Amino acid sequence: MKAQNPQSLKVGLLGIGTVGSGVFTVLARNQDEIVRRTGRGIEISMVADLDTARASAVVGRSAQVVNDARAVIANPDIDVVIELIGGYGIAKALVLEAIAAGKHVVTANKALLAVHGDEIFAAAAKARNGAGVMVLFEAAVAGGIPIIKTLREGLTANRIQWVAGIINGTTNFILSEMRDKGLDFATALKEAQALGYAEADPTFDIEGVDAAHKVTLMSAMAFGIPVQFDKAYVEGITKLGAQDIKYAEALGYRIKLLGIAKRVNHEGGAGIELRVHPTLIPTKRLIANVEGAMNAVMVQGDAVGTTLYYGKGAGSEPTASAVVADLVDIARMSGSALQATPVLAFQPGSVQAAPILPIGQVVTSFYLRMRVSDEAGVLAKVTSILGGADISIDALIQHEARDGESQTDLIILTHDCIEATLDKALQQVEALSSVLGSVVKIRKEELA
Ligand code: HSE
Repeated sequence: MKAQNPQSLKVGLLGIGTVGSGVFTVLARNQDEIVRRTGRGIEISMVADLDTARASAVVGRSAQVVNDARAVIANPDIDVVIELIGGYGIAKALVLEAIAAGKHVVTANKALLAVHGDEIFAAAAKARNGAGVMVLFEAAVAGGIPIIKTLREGLTANRIQWVAGIINGTTNFILSEMRDKGLDFATALKEAQALGYAEADPTFDIEGVDAAHKVTLMSAMAFGIPVQFDKAYVEGITKLGAQDIKYAEALGYRIKLLGIAKRVNHEGGAGIELRVHPTLIPTKRLIANVEGAMNAVMVQGDAVGTTLYYGKGAGSEPTASAVVADLVDIARMSGSALQATPVLAFQPGSVQAAPILPIGQVVTSFYLRMRVSDEAGVLAKVTSILGGADISIDALIQHEARDGESQTDLIILTHDCIEATLDKALQQVEALSSVLGSVVKIRKEELA
């Protein structure tokens, strides 16, 4: 990639896998358009990858290829380092070294920022003798959807009330397959792996950790709070039964893995709810109809109302689209990082601590499924326990037992209640001799 003019932004790329190649391709293909927008060229002049042959095959002779990331950081000509290595280990050391060397950083690494973000952003603010460097991360959340820029700039007039998103494509693909084809979780996961959606080790995706990293970053940007991944409630989709997807559907709901960040002041407490879990959403909501590996994020602000952003959450060029947008922002900067739009949307000095409510203090409504003996009075006993705890019932299904069976499923939708109150009532329900085994509990959100 040739420099467009002497003031081209000089970029060093650490890790040229799927996303790195996409960045290279998009910059090369759209460079004229990008220069018209930016006013200067953006040149990837150095690439570090352990697999130098693979890197050279992508970049040809247009950039210097090295196998040592520190050679990129040490190069005084490099203005920006793009970190696409991933993980908390070497990536953290390299990002901090790049910042200490006065380089701006662009990263897609949500795990790193969700866990070590406060340390990294603090280091960035002190770099260059207090003038600061930028650490931008549009690609870290929902891939190609510009949700970070939306929270940082587009919605800046609003007091944001909540953010809720399908922010993991692998799990959304699995849930779509479970619903469409009636597959169980294990079979749908194998299919996702065969099609290349899920990683060989899909733990972070299916256990909700990847989504929790992303919603943690969005919570910091939406509310001006520190990045607190360790306080997030994280529950994946591995225990979700195919029958719950069917029952939810019959009741007018679809089950999605949602990342939710909500500012609340309710009977459970005041603070922030930060949680990832399978969630029933009314089928009539647009977001309930986001299928396959696609992502979507809803943001509710007091002025704008409810908004929805949809697109590809992963993949080479969609993610590159986000990385290049961050490069353009840096290329356009006229003053120091201190004078630029604050990377976390709020001025660093205005970040305020707010308690993240433990899951027991969360207020929401629930789907409950229990296996019961098909005998007189069971329903009355269960509803009386819930009523005694002041938990109001919204809807209920009880099928007749199949021929020859003496048990059936009882499905209940509750109205909003404090989760700990429900859990206490469910202990009593589970102690009933006519309730067999434990009660399945899935949270429900109206997203109205
Ligand atoms: N593994 C992620 C997903 C993509 O399935 O959405 C990268 O964040």
